[in-house]
Amino acid sequence: MATSTFNQRLLAWFDQHGRTNLPWQNNPTPYRVWISEIMLQQTQVNTVIPYYQRFIERFSDIIILATASLDEVLYYWAGLGYYARARHLYQAAQQICHQYDGELPTDLEKLMQLPGIGRSTAGAILALAHEQRHPILDGNVKRVLCRYYALAGHPSEKGVTDTLWRLAEENTPTQRVAAYTQAIMDLGATICIRRQPHCLLCPFQPDCLAHQQRQEEVYPSPQLR
Ligand code: ADE
Repeated sequence: MATSTFNQRLLAWFDQHGRTNLPWQNNPTPYRVWISEIMLQQTQVNTVIPYYQRFIERFSDIIILATASLDEVLYYWAGLGYYARARHLYQAAQQICHQYDGELPTDLEKLMQLPGIGRSTAGAILALAHEQRHPILDGNVKRVLCRYYALAGHPSEKGVTDTLWRLAEENTPTQRVAAYTQAIMDLGATICIRRQPHCLLCPFQPDCLAHQQRQEEVYPSPQLR
């Protein structure tokens, strides 16, 4: 299917069913989007919401975060797990204050040099906060694309990763990038879930190759050992 149809279907679905009232979606400054994306890296939306709200209330801007103590930052993170995320966030806040005068870089490469920010998170921050056109490729998006294209091989294999980034890039629209970025993450998190995906509710159902083969759960392939 043409990539324009891919993203039009997704955006139409998002307009009807997407989440538009999450705390970081209202007033999506780069700082707020960054904090939310780090929390959401390994934790589901419903778990993140109360942590995000407490965190943002205490550390309402990057200077407040950078000048707090690491212990206090970890205290506000306690319960979310994967504490390296909080340490990296804190280090990155200090780097941003020293190197960039307290403003998150608006350049993909510079963002990716900060602790805890990989290519997908950097793309998500720039797409969601600045409407910059960058692909994202987190675990949810990998699953959607592997199924849609019936792409064999584990997503961590080099050739598969390269193909997924290419597909993610081709499908990213030039308009409504923030909505598209939120939409593909939402679809992966709520419809195209790992086990027993809700294909009847999926806007890609007519074109999804894995679905046509009745092999949704075969993709993504398990890792070879
Ligand atoms: N996972 C990572 N980022 C997310 C976001 N912005 N919304 C939902 N799930 C996510």
